[in-house]
Amino acid sequence: NWNMESFAHTAVQEIKDAVQDKKVIMGLSGGVDSSVAALLIHKAIGKNLHCIFVDNGLLRKNEKEDLQESLTTHLDLNIKFVDARKIFLDALEGVTDPEVKRKEIGRLFIEVFDAEAKKIEGADFLGQGTLYPDIIESKSAFGGPTSIIKSHHNVGGLPEKMKLKLIEPLQLLFKDEVRQLGLELGLNEDLVWRQPFPGPGLAIRIMGEVSEKRLNILKEADALILEEIRAAGLYRKLWQSFAVLLPIKSVGVMGDKRTYDSCIAIRAVNSIDAMTADWARLPHELLARMSNRIINEVDGVNRVVFDITSKPPGTIEWE
Ligand code: XMP
Repeated sequence: NWNMESFAHTAVQEIKDAVQDKKVIMGLSGGVDSSVAALLIHKAIGKNLHCIFVDNGLLRKNEKEDLQESLTTHLDLNIKFVDARKIFLDALEGVTDPEVKRKEIGRLFIEVFDAEAKKIEGADFLGQGTLYPDIIESKSAFGGPTSIIKSHHNVGGLPEKMKLKLIEPLQLLFKDEVRQLGLELGLNEDLVWRQPFPGPGLAIRIMGEVSEKRLNILKEADALILEEIRAAGLYRKLWQSFAVLLPIKSVGVMGDKRTYDSCIAIRAVNSIDAMTADWARLPHELLARMSNRIINEVDGVNRVVFDITSKPPGTIEWE
């Protein structure tokens, strides 16, 4: 893609001129935006880009490993992986209110990221993967250019405290352009085409309390759903597809035994911007395979339901 090639060329030069021999700190989320922004900055300044990835334990199965493989092993990015799983899990103990979950996770992210960032000496810049629609959206939602970062887009407060200058190399691009740029920069297709994933992660897909046991149930069920969605060739066509763990148990039979186990909801939607969404008419055979596999392969689940609510009136996420 010629456009993105020349964009990359110009952006790299601009970053070089601005940063010179200083360091840039950047938080990676595992999503396409922060990955592409990091790759662009890396292309400009190499090892002076210090990425931080906070493992909050709320990611999908294998997500951290996949990221490590594509960004560190293949693209040689300098990434510090911080294992904060226990910190997040401890803080979420007993928390059931969705907004409290979000707040706690946001607060902890800043705390952990901040502590890591402070260890990097001589950093002048903070890189962010903000896109054009992010800027527009936060302006219209909050009425002014003073709040460029939405509360769930994290790292709020950090630039001021550490006196870092923001560097947002994607701020003139739309999502499809970011994907093109990612491909241009050698990012693997899986990451480039990754479906959106919320900052608070699986915590807001576990209705009720988040525990290690419930996280594992959700991760396994979610991985099976994605595997089947990919096998059916639907992954890129769907806006999002995932599992939700419900806070109820129901009675079932397994062999000649009565079971009393958890319920998984399958959520799959079509959308163009997440403002509205239509529930995806997944083929019955696909639904049947997902249901069978979840019940047979995931311990602790004996019932699977399919969410047929569009947005509005529903939201895409359940919390
Ligand atoms: P809803 O559930 O509001 O979601 O229809 C719309 C889109 O936003 C994502 N989402 C979030 N993303 N932090 C995020 O970074 C959040 O707290 C959050 N809540 C929802 C959701 O996955 C969907 O793409």
